[in-house]
Amino acid sequence: MTWNEGYVLEVNYTYGFYGELSPLKLALAATLKSLKSPNLEKNFNYCELACGRGYSTNLLASCYPQAQFYANDFNPSHIVEARTLAETAGTKNVHFFDDSFEEFINQDLPQFDFIVLHGIYSWITPRNRLAIVNFIRQKIKVGGMVYISYNTLPGWAAARPMQALMLRYGRNSSEPILTRIEKALSFTEQMLESKATYFTQNPILKPRLEKLKEQNRYYLAHEYFNEEWNAFYFDEVAKELEEAKLNFMGSAHLIDYVDAVNLSAAAQTQLSQVTDPIFQQVVRDFFLNTQFRRDIFTRGQLSLLSQEHLQVLRSLRFALVTSIKSMKFKHQFPLGEVELQEKVYRPICEALENGSLTLGELQKDSRTKDIALNSLYQALIIMTGIGYTHPAVSETVRKQRQKSTDAFNSAVKAKAIYSDEMNFLASPLVGTGIVVNRLEQLLLLAKERKQDGPQFIWQVLSGQGKKIIKEGKTLETESENLAHLATVAENFNGDRLPLLTKLGIS
Ligand SMILES: C[S@@+](CC[C@H](N)C(=O)[O-])C[C@H]1O[C@@H](n2cnc3c(N)ncnc32)[C@H](O)[C@@H]1O
Repeated sequence: MTWNEGYVLEVNYTYGFYGELSPLKLALAATLKSLKSPNLEKNFNYCELACGRGYSTNLLASCYPQAQFYANDFNPSHIVEARTLAETAGTKNVHFFDDSFEEFINQDLPQFDFIVLHGIYSWITPRNRLAIVNFIRQKIKVGGMVYISYNTLPGWAAARPMQALMLRYGRNSSEPILTRIEKALSFTEQMLESKATYFTQNPILKPRLEKLKEQNRYYLAHEYFNEEWNAFYFDEVAKELEEAKLNFMGSAHLIDYVDAVNLSAAAQTQLSQVTDPIFQQVVRDFFLNTQFRRDIFTRGQLSLLSQEHLQVLRSLRFALVTSIKSMKFKHQFPLGEVELQEKVYRPICEALENGSLTLGELQKDSRTKDIALNSLYQALIIMTGIGYTHPAVSETVRKQRQKSTDAFNSAVKAKAIYSDEMNFLASPLVGTGIVVNRLEQLLLLAKERKQDGPQFIWQVLSGQGKKIIKEGKTLETESENLAHLATVAENFNGDRLPLLTKLGIS
């Protein structure tokens, strides 16, 4: 086998969905920088490079039926899954190719408003990085946005050799990759227990190894056991992307925009004295010991005039994506635990509880009219960063998208009968994926089929010879299983179902 160039093939990647890929979130980041973003209510072209099993692209295509989505991944086992999901859901505006980066450019493709690549750039050869840059150079529209994530230095400086050690440990073995991973993990742990100096001098490795041991093995296979593995300083990536005429715009990780929760006052002062914007990002990564960056680059930037910016801000619409009951007003940020001012945050959430609102509407709402526009805006950025709120579309647009997200969600829910791998459903209101676990999906499916939820789930599980495991203990009898499922269903109906219904997920 030569086409995989050392990239892991033995096991497929996980069915992940990454919120940073959401066009509405990318557009919000542009607004934060006072820049014009592509119009998401019109037709636009979106491309995901190396889409894995195509879950994100399929989900997003269902949320934006008026746009066209394209994606490649050179692993045909990934693409066959991606295409099957699209066919089952009847999604017509998505196109998958089992092409490498070098091959993909030769397809008949449009110019793109968005090109996104998540979890790729650190794990491929320099030649493939060049192929990506070449693809972007030829295929991104002027004014288009590129999202790219990668492992970063200095955050990886201490742990990188641990990855090198595990890779080398398994390199000459002919055992299956999942066995190699287990053995490499316990070999590394043994070295840690034997107090190898590398581990004693880098105390952060112990908790890191503990965390690794709990992670999904398919994820570890791709993250840790690839021949190619790189971590970059920000300026190295910025320089490579310069060849595609790209400039750094900002982060797709919204919390990065709020210095107060990331950097001490002294750090902010020192950083503000660094005048070169590229070096400033590098220095910021040293202050935060950044391990993973989620950057947005653009090909040309159009600044909004201040009155235009104000107009765009006022028309930004937000919706709750978490119930108020499950929100915590204390949150852990890079700088430590921060208490969110409840007198600002709670009324915003209460106003949004009845449905999505624009910032302009929040300015008039009786509960939030006394909060200054800037504070409203800052609170919504923080809440969107945490995952409590998300940019949303109007009711009219939501209705136009309902049919395609319903079809996607039905295809995913039907899969939940057999597997717990797909944990996101598409929301037409917020144009992104919302976490909905297998039991919740089965409860929705039972509702759709007008069946009793607990009975339906028990039939599915018992038919597959499975039982519920509660707090590490298997529930043996039918009545124990049904009683537990009845509690799950009651909680779901009380809290989650009303939220999901508002998000257009049923
Ligand atoms: C870590 S996975 C990330 C998948 C997806 N972007 C996600 O985040 O879920 C990396 C993907 O890159 C694909 N890949 C690696 N090298 C490639 C190449 N040269 N051309 C196309 N795809 C490639 C792999 O098959 C794999 O699916």
